[in-house]
Amino acid sequence: MQFFIDSADVGEIKKALALGLCDGVTTNPSLVAKTGRAFDEVLREIVALAPGPISAEVTAIDAEGMVREARAYAKYGDQVVIKIPLIVEGLRAVKVLSDEGVKTNVTLCFSAVQALLAAKAGATYVSPFVGRLDDISQDGMALIADILQIYRNYDFDTKVLVASVRHPVHVLEAARLGADVATIPFAVIEQLAKHPLTDSGLKKFLADWEKVPKK
Ligand code: G3P
Repeated sequence: MQFFIDSADVGEIKKALALGLCDGVTTNPSLVAKTGRAFDEVLREIVALAPGPISAEVTAIDAEGMVREARAYAKYGDQVVIKIPLIVEGLRAVKVLSDEGVKTNVTLCFSAVQALLAAKAGATYVSPFVGRLDDISQDGMALIADILQIYRNYDFDTKVLVASVRHPVHVLEAARLGADVATIPFAVIEQLAKHPLTDSGLKKFLADWEKVPKK
């Protein structure tokens, strides 16, 4: 499973790259707003930093405007993937862009039927938001299982990119189900390596090592 970092914060991206846990980057308007920086500047810096796929989200809500923005973002680098909301106008834009060979990440996906439409439109990735479903007492990972089954039934090329990840169990379950990608906030990336028994075991090893006679 590929690990993307869900962030527009260059400092976080650098740290994830240094851990070997950054196969790509996903941004969205809210993540960019958190940086307090102009998107042009942020995208240019991320493209220079990260070799993997980098999702840049359009903000137009009509297909023509989405395609126009997409073509502008695509010029930043071959690794730029255009993030498009899963609305009818977005599906129209995905069809145009996929026919042009522009990679797309269809976002704000909350149902398996939506994901089916994204695949049929030619999306490169689909981003089901598991955390936001869990937040309203629905089972986000059950959606991932449904989408993966449907995509396998018809051999769709669209990759399932698990998004809105809230904790390590989302990452574990995504891997168990065979999702292609999980896009993970840096705070969750940092949690993945942690286990209290590892910490206590290391502490004991080091304490015992102190008892080993030193020449
Ligand atoms: O990539 C989508 C992700 O950033 C949404 O996460 O936490 O806003 O639901 P969240």
